Amino acid sequence: MAILARAVVLAACLGSLANAQTINVNGHVVVADEGTVSAASEAAGDNFELTDSVLANLTDLHLTDIDIFKFGEDGEAAYKRGLGFASCKTMPGDLHWPGKIVWKVFNLLTGGALIKTVPFGAVCYEGEHYDADECTRIIDNWTNSDTHDEDPTANMYPLFEGNACLPTDAGKDGATCQLGGLPVYSVNATSASQVQLAVNFARTLNLRLVIRNTGHDFLGRSTGAGALNIWTHNLKKLQFVENYQSAGGYKGPAFKIGAGIQVVELYEAANKAGYTAVGGECRTVGVAGGYTAMGGHSPMSPIAGLGSDQVLSVEIVTPDGRLVVADEKNNSELFWAVRGGGGSTFGVVISLTVRVWPKMTFSGVTWSLATADANISKEVFWKGMRTYWAKFPEYNDNHTYGYSVMFNTGNDTYSWSMLPWLVPGMELPAFKAMVNPLLDEWKSIGFNVTPEFFTYDNFYDTWKNHFPTESVGASNVRTASRLIPRKNWDDADLLEETFDAVQSIVEEGSILISYNINGAAPKGVAASALNPAWRDVSMFAIIGSGWDVASSSPDDILATNKKITNDWMQRLRDVSPGSGGYGNEGDVMEPDFGQSFYGADNYKRLYALKKKIDPWGVFYAPTAVGSEDWEITQVTDFVGGLLYSDLLETLSSWLTLQTGRLCRK
Ligand SMILES: Cc1cc2nc3c(=O)[nH]c(=O)nc-3n(C[C@H](O)[C@H](O)[C@H](O)COP(=O)(O)OP(=O)(O)OC[C@H]3O[C@@H](n4cnc5c(N)ncnc54)[C@H](O)[C@@H]3O)c2cc1C
Ligand SMILES: *[C@@H]1O[C@H](CO)[C@@H](O)[C@H](O)[C@H]1NC(C)=O
Ligand SMILES: *[C@@H]1O[C@H](CO)[C@@H](O)[C@H](O)[C@H]1NC(C)=O
Ligand SMILES: *[C@@H]1O[C@H](CO)[C@@H](O)[C@H](O)[C@H]1NC(C)=O
Ligand SMILES: *[C@@H]1O[C@H](CO)[C@@H](O)[C@H](O)[C@H]1NC(C)=O
Ligand SMILES: *[C@@H]1O[C@H](CO)[C@@H](O)[C@H](O)[C@H]1NC(C)=O
Ligand SMILES: *[C@@H]1O[C@H](CO)[C@@H](O)[C@H](O)[C@H]1NC(C)=O
Ligand SMILES: *[C@@H]1O[C@H](CO)[C@@H](O)[C@H](O)[C@H]1NC(C)=O
Repeated sequence: MAILARAVVLAACLGSLANAQTINVNGHVVVADEGTVSAASEAAGDNFELTDSVLANLTDLHLTDIDIFKFGEDGEAAYKRGLGFASCKTMPGDLHWPGKIVWKVFNLLTGGALIKTVPFGAVCYEGEHYDADECTRIIDNWTNSDTHDEDPTANMYPLFEGNACLPTDAGKDGATCQLGGLPVYSVNATSASQVQLAVNFARTLNLRLVIRNTGHDFLGRSTGAGALNIWTHNLKKLQFVENYQSAGGYKGPAFKIGAGIQVVELYEAANKAGYTAVGGECRTVGVAGGYTAMGGHSPMSPIAGLGSDQVLSVEIVTPDGRLVVADEKNNSELFWAVRGGGGSTFGVVISLTVRVWPKMTFSGVTWSLATADANISKEVFWKGMRTYWAKFPEYNDNHTYGYSVMFNTGNDTYSWSMLPWLVPGMELPAFKAMVNPLLDEWKSIGFNVTPEFFTYDNFYDTWKNHFPTESVGASNVRTASRLIPRKNWDDADLLEETFDAVQSIVEEGSILISYNINGAAPKGVAASALNPAWRDVSMFAIIGSGWDVASSSPDDILATNKKITNDWMQRLRDVSPGSGGYGNEGDVMEPDFGQSFYGADNYKRLYALKKKIDPWGVFYAPTAVGSEDWEITQVTDFVGGLLYSDLLETLSSWLTLQTGRLCRK
C-alpha cells in the first residue's frame, strides 16, 4: 500500500479530468485501484488530518492533476481548470463534471468512504433497489426521526428535494424514483482528512458541496441537486474532560464532541459523568452541526443560555481545506462567527468542546387540553391563553422553559398541550407555588386543565420521560418563527396587539408551537454572532401550515405558502419590529433574512468574514450568510421526470427549492 500513497497519477485528457487514471510504480504504469492506491486518510496518521506532506507524498512520482486535492491557493490552477470562476456550479452531464475514474480515485483516497446516492425511498420502487420488507419498514416508521438517521441523504423535510422518490408515491401514475434535489455522492466521514479531501475536491472542481448531519433541517439547508455531500453523522468521538481550561478562561467540566454526536448521546454521557449538558429536545437532533451553529435552544437555556454559549473551542475545516482550531485566542473572528452565524457557511465543524453544568433537580408539569371535550368556549379559551401569556416575563424571571403546541380543531374548538413546562434547578414545591396562581385564575373562569406534575433529581430522566417523540418527514408543510421580545409586555397596547396577532393566526389555521423561554447569556460567555433577538426574548413562536397535494391545485398551495410568509408572519413582524426569527426553525423565504436571523450588525460582520475566508463560494445554504449572492435555477429542467413537477414549477417561481443548479447571481 505504501508505495501507492506515493504514486497516484491522474492523467489529464483534453484539459479536463475525464478518463485515464494510472499510477507510475518503478517506471511501470499500472491501473489505479484498491490494491494500488492507499487512502490519504490513513496515510495521514493518528490525528487523521490531511496535510501538505500527505499531499507531497501523493505527488512524489511525476504526478499530474493531483492538484485537485490541494489546499486553498495551492489548488488555484486546478480551480481555474475546473472552471471555479464560472457563474454556475458544475452538474452531472456537464463537460467538466469529473469522470468515473476521478470519483474512483477520490473514493480510494478517502479510504472507500464515498457513497453513490440511492434515494431512501428507492426500496419501494421497481428496479434494482426494490425491497418490499424494507419499504414497509420505512413507511411504517417514516415520521420517526431515528428512521432517517443511518442514511446519508434521508432528510426529514423532503419538499426541498422536490419530494423526489417518496416511498408512499411508489405505484402512483407517473412516479419514478429520481434524485431530485438530493446530492449525487456522499462522503461517509469518520475523520477530518476525508472532510478536507472533499472540500478541496469540490472547490477545485467547482462542485456544489453540501453538509448533512442528521437531516433535521426545516429549510432544505442540508441537501442540493448535483452536489457532493459531506455526511458528518459518523464523526462520533465523545470525550469527557473533567478540568478543561479554555483559551477564554473557563475552568471546569467539558465534553469534546464529534460533529455527528446527537442529543441523546451527549445527554447520556453527561448524566453518567454527573453533569447536565445543553442540547435540543428531540432525541436525534445533532448537537455540533446546524443546531449549535445557529444558536440552539434547550430546556437548559433559561439558566445556561443557548447551545452556542456552551462552546469553548471548535475544530473546523475551512473552505481552503485546512483543519483549524478556533477559540477565544486562535482564529477568534471565526470563533465569534461559528457560534450563531450559521452552518454550511464558514467550514465543516469536526468537533466542538462544550461546557457542561452541574447535575440539578428539574420540576415541571404537562397537560393536554381539547376544548371540545372540556366544554371550553372560544371566548374562555382565548381569555385563558391571555391570562397565561401575560405572565411570561414573570416566568422568564423564574427561569421557565414552557413548551406547548396549539391547533385550531375547527368549529371554535382548540387543542393545546403543554409538552412540558419546567424549570431547571427548581424543587417541586416552589414550582407548584409558581404555577398554582395561574391554575386558580383559570379555574375561576372555567378553563380547567388536568396538570400532571413531576420532579427528578437530574435532567436526563426529566428529558427521557417528559419530552414527546416529535414527528418528522412531512412533505407538505412549511414553518416560520418569531422571537417576541420581553419589552412587548411593558406596553399594554402593544401587548394586546401581540396577543391579537398570535390569536388571529391560530384562528386562521396555523399551528402554534410556543416557547416561554429566555436566552440571556450566562456570565463570562464571550461575544458571539448569535442573533441578539434571542437575548431578550420572552415568547418564541413557531407558526406554519400544511396542504393537501391531492385536493389542492399548485396555485392554491403556492397561496398557502405565501400566506405563511407574507401575511401571518407579517403580523408577528409588525408587533416586533427590529426583532427576528430563529434561523434553524425559520422560514426559507424570510424577507431580509440577514437582519432577521442574525441581527443587522452581526450580518455585516459575518458577510465580511464569509467573503474573506470563502472567496470561492465553496459553502452555500439557503439563508446562510452570503447566500443572497446565489440562486437556484432550472429547478425542474435538471431533475426531470419528478412526480410533482407541475407543483415544483409553480412553487419554485417563489419558494427556494434545492432541485436545480446553483448559480451566482
Ligand atoms: C424534531 C425536531 C426537533 C427540534 N428541536 C430543536 C430544539 O429543541 N432546539 C433547537 O434549537 N432546534 C431544534 N430543532 C431545529 C434544529 O436545530 C435544526 O433542524 C438544525 O438544522 C439541526 O441541525 P443538524 O445538524 O442536526 O441537521 P442537518 O439538517 O443535518 O444540518 C442543518 C444545517 O447545518 C449544517 N451543518 C450540519 N453539520 C454541520 C457541520 N459539522 N459543520 C457545518 N455545518 C453543518 C448543514 O449543512 C445544514 O445547513 C429541531 C428540529 C426538529 C426537526
Ligand atoms: C509519506 O510516505 C512515506 C513512505 O511511504 C511514509 O513513511 C510517510 O509516513 C508518508 N508521510 C505522510 C505524511 O503521510
Ligand atoms: C418500524 O416498523 C416495523 C413494522 O414495520 C416495526 O416492527 C419496527 O419496530 C419499527 N421501528 C424501526 C426503528 O424500524
Ligand atoms: C459509514 O461509515 C461507518 C463507519 O465506518 C460504517 O459503520 C457505516 O456502515 C457506513 N455507512 C454507510 C451507509 O456506508
Ligand atoms: C493557537 O495559537 C498559538 C499562537 O498564536 C499557537 O502557538 C498554537 O499552536 C495555536 N493552537 C492551536 C490549537 O491552533
Ligand atoms: C358547557 O358549558 C355551558 C356554558 O358554559 C353550559 O351551559 C353547559 O351545560 C356545559 N355542558 C356540559 C356538557 O358541561
Ligand atoms: C418568580 O418570579 C417572581 C418575580 O417575577 C417572584 O416574585 C417569584 O418569587 C418567583 N417564584 C419562584 C418560585 O422563584
Ligand atoms: C363543524 O360543525 C359542522 C356542523 O355541526 C360539521 O358538519 C363539521 O364537520 C364540523 N367541522 C369540524 C372540523 O369539526
